[in-house]
Amino acid sequence: MKSNSCSKPFATIAPYYDRLMSFVNYPGWIAYIEKIIQLSSVKENVIVDLACGTGVCLQLWAEKGYEVIGLDRSFAMLEVCRERVVGQGNVLLINADMRDFALARPVGVITCLYDSLNYLLADADLLGCFRSVHEALRDDGIFIFDMNTIHSLRDEWGNNTFQRRDEGLLSVWSNRYDTDANISSLNITLHVRRNGQEMILEEFHQERGYPLSVIEDLLREAGFDCSLYRHLTFTPASEFDLRVMGVARK
Ligand SMILES: C[S@@+](CC[C@H](N)C(=O)[O-])C[C@H]1O[C@@H](n2cnc3c(N)ncnc32)[C@H](O)[C@@H]1O
Repeated sequence: MKSNSCSKPFATIAPYYDRLMSFVNYPGWIAYIEKIIQLSSVKENVIVDLACGTGVCLQLWAEKGYEVIGLDRSFAMLEVCRERVVGQGNVLLINADMRDFALARPVGVITCLYDSLNYLLADADLLGCFRSVHEALRDDGIFIFDMNTIHSLRDEWGNNTFQRRDEGLLSVWSNRYDTDANISSLNITLHVRRNGQEMILEEFHQERGYPLSVIEDLLREAGFDCSLYRHLTFTPASEFDLRVMGVARK
């Protein structure tokens, strides 16, 4: 049995990410976000997805006829994404850090989905991202994002170890929660077969939970009006929700 050393987040798991996330109802998420877009006054055919990862959402938007731009820091994730969207004319991929990015021209809708903002571990990082988004949006633009709550990271992930099997892929998720920093440290171990050999791959991830009031304050500081909802609903968010959806208007 071979084992790799612990790699940078997503560098090793990128080729397995889609299998690990096969339980996620991305089409349902996209339908919800499209409703948010329709309810806002913004008319837009371009969607920028920050931290686009392997591009599942980019593909879904592109299939609906949107022009899409995906941005991510991880080369490995963008490589999987590129393979997914290759040949689709209306997709542009950018390798950049969402804490400090700029677009060539302002757009109406920017999204950031599936915990990605929780990977920003300091208030200053989150504020940097919100400021870049604000700058990149048209005057009537909206920013739509989700985040794991403190409740989710502290009480659900907690100090628990979970074993999963997704489409035959065995993985172990081992969490440690730091209650002072509100940071969850996560070791992901994958048991894979490559070239007929059993391999164990490991990665270390960290996500930070933010009080809802801090998310709102930082959005306001960046210049946004904002509403936070319980994920997939239009019910105002509470600290007891596991995942919240943010809609920030410039
Ligand atoms: C949990 S994945 C989510 C991917 C995708 N949004 C989805 O819904 O499947 C988190 C993504 O955030 C990206 N990411 C984390 N920090 C980032 C940063 N500072 N700038 C850009 N991308 C970042 C990672 O590379 C990874 O692709």
